[in-house]
Amino acid sequence: MAKFNKNDYQIRFDFNNMMADYIGAEQGFKESDVSAVLPQAKAAFESVKQQGGAGWQGWLDLPFDQDEIVEDILATAKGIRKNFKTFVVLGIGGSALGPIAVFQALRHLHYNELSPKLRKGPKFYVEDNVDPERMSALLDVIDLKTTCFNVITKSGATSETMSQYLVITDQLKKALGADYASHVIATTDREKGNLIKLAKKEGFKTFYINSGVGGRFSELSPVGLLPAAVLGIDVKKMLSGARDMVKKGFKSANPYHNMPLMAATLQFIAMQKGKNVSVMMPYADSLKYVADWYCQLWGESLGKSVDKSGKEVYAGQTPVKALGVTDQHSQIQLYTEGPFDKVITLIAVDAFRKEVMIPEGLPEFPDVNFLCGNTMGTLLNTERKATEYALAKKHRLNRTITLPEVNEYTIGQLLMMFMMECAFTGAMLNIDTYNQPGVEEGKNATYAMFGRKGYEAKKAELDSAKAKSAKYIL
Ligand code: PA5
Repeated sequence: MAKFNKNDYQIRFDFNNMMADYIGAEQGFKESDVSAVLPQAKAAFESVKQQGGAGWQGWLDLPFDQDEIVEDILATAKGIRKNFKTFVVLGIGGSALGPIAVFQALRHLHYNELSPKLRKGPKFYVEDNVDPERMSALLDVIDLKTTCFNVITKSGATSETMSQYLVITDQLKKALGADYASHVIATTDREKGNLIKLAKKEGFKTFYINSGVGGRFSELSPVGLLPAAVLGIDVKKMLSGARDMVKKGFKSANPYHNMPLMAATLQFIAMQKGKNVSVMMPYADSLKYVADWYCQLWGESLGKSVDKSGKEVYAGQTPVKALGVTDQHSQIQLYTEGPFDKVITLIAVDAFRKEVMIPEGLPEFPDVNFLCGNTMGTLLNTERKATEYALAKKHRLNRTITLPEVNEYTIGQLLMMFMMECAFTGAMLNIDTYNQPGVEEGKNATYAMFGRKGYEAKKAELDSAKAKSAKYIL
């Protein structure tokens, strides 16, 4: 096997089609637009860099300081691969989207359907909801006696995850008795929340999420590394890709020499010009859920009503996920001809890990025959280039991130690139990138509706809300 050479796998960022020279002066940016926001870009660079892994930026240290934890994760994963046939993540949001994205990116696209011999690891499921039909369906297809559950919650208190936990541990206890605890692994905060207390009481194997690592920035912590390692993914290579991206992102305060900073600068200018939608469109099924993960990162981090000085800013871009080429037959019409309110990020892959040849066979049908003798990868990438051309021709802001191949190293780079882009953008907007008061409000209202102790005032507030009018319900 050829030696893995990371120089062959550096991701690239092409922003030609954000610029006036390529999509026209009305929509495209000029270099003077970039120069105009250089002070904010440089200040964002300095503040993110200076803070480093402190405060809520603990995620920046993850590629550098987890050697010991990684060894524990690898040893634990080895045991799980040996002793269990199924591995299930219980969690939601930042505790679920990363594991899903990395699973889809780096394992076979029909992994669970493969024979055990080809799969070489346990089946994998993530319960990213509290839909009773989904939970019942999970229980229909797994055997509790051969299933290991990884309960992931940073706060250790999220209602959805704790209800998943309660349902599963109840079933496990009924099926296995006292031995049930060996089927549960907790990933949570070292001190805060209920899960750590339960883990200590019940004796679950536990991994910790550092206090400075928030849910949507946690994929490179044990949140994502344990599931990845259980799936046989090389987590050291993932961390190595992320590490190289951190080094790149902190090398220069000049956006023209800094991929995540330029990406952030362009989005900042776009937001100033009223481009309120960020479409993430990978041209690879393996990256479909990276777009999902990105949507949480971008939406929850940047969607803020006030800036750090308390001024009302209503910042953010609505993140939208799309898939090439599938959504060329669905959303692209809107992106090409609808409102000028979007930045479209295409993610390209140079070389697919598998290729499928479109066979020769229909010379009498020239309208179909032109496809024959090409690979499906060539078709997909040609369609991407054609879409990029069509978008540019219609003056639509678009940019392309290219992965030479989808592998552990490039995925590590890509995730870190988006997290750094997000941190720089948040700093340029002068908002708190790491809080989520809008999420908390909904969580608290749920607690109040369930009559949870301590939420009496919230319950009274909800009870006094104006009753809905039957007139407006048809
Ligand atoms: O990014 C975040 O902080 C949130 O989206 C959380 O990931 C989500 O609410 C789940 O929280 P927890 O991991 O505490 O259960």
